[in-house]
Amino acid sequence: MGRGLLSGRVAVVTGTASGIGAAVVDRFLQEDARVIAVDVAHQGAGRPGVLAVTGDVADAATWRRVADTARTEFGRLDVLHSNAAVVVRAPAHELAESDWDRQIAVNLKAAYLAVGACVALLREGGGAVVLSSSVHALVGLPAHPAYAAAKGGLVSLGRQLAVEYGPEVRVNTVLPGPILTPAWEGIGEEDRRRSVAGTAAARFGRPDEVAAAVTFLACEESSYVTGACLVVDGGWTAVKDSA
Ligand SMILES: NC(=O)c1ccc[n+]([C@@H]2O[C@H](COP(=O)([O-])OP(=O)(O)OC[C@H]3O[C@@H](n4cnc5c(N)ncnc54)[C@H](O)[C@@H]3O)[C@@H](O)[C@H]2O)c1
Repeated sequence: MGRGLLSGRVAVVTGTASGIGAAVVDRFLQEDARVIAVDVAHQGAGRPGVLAVTGDVADAATWRRVADTARTEFGRLDVLHSNAAVVVRAPAHELAESDWDRQIAVNLKAAYLAVGACVALLREGGGAVVLSSSVHALVGLPAHPAYAAAKGGLVSLGRQLAVEYGPEVRVNTVLPGPILTPAWEGIGEEDRRRSVAGTAAARFGRPDEVAAAVTFLACEESSYVTGACLVVDGGWTAVKDSA
């Protein structure tokens, strides 16, 4: 059971049909928030406390609908968690231009669109934005050029937005490491074993462990935290096996 950390709050969460976004919705509900859940995929049967919006986060029209929904259905917006992402694995010289553009649009531009549409509402009562970056913002890994560029961009964007919209709105960024979600489907056993071996925790992270960090950054427990990055990676970026 939650502690009511988001009692009375209204939150927008994106990428909620799967993985970390679904876990964030579960945790926000436990903390007594009401949630507008945005995903390009259909999200199934409705749940109490959740208003599902089907749409592409890279499309400005989706964000106009989300902001309208927050205003008309709830009259407020307190939390924005931009979490949806896509990944296409290929080295830069083999990555199609359309796949570059799509990853930058969904993984980076969407955060700009989200804030553009929602910041007026967030400012009214004081709010919190949490962006989902990745350890790919900190280290180079093969075959992720556009994904890494977008995730690195989110770290800078988060800092920038914190400066622009403080003191009313706090903006922070989470950087997950290897978290076992459907995004890992299609990644082989050997790659999984190496990822786990690269953590100090000696295991994959769970979506609810990222949701706990997002909840901290979304609620008043982090009232003096803004413009910050929180790495949630079981020590993956701390571990090195050579000098
Ligand atoms: N799982 C990991 O190991 C890991 C590691 C680092 C960072 N992350 C980040 O955490 C976040 C969540 O990852 P996950 O593992 O839960 O992913 P996931 O693939 O399980 O879920 C992503 C969700 O985003 C939705 N989505 C994709 N494109 C969209 C669009 N254009 N509009 C709306 N929704 C869209 C998908 O339908 C899906 O429901 C992402 O930002 C990801 O980059 C994940």
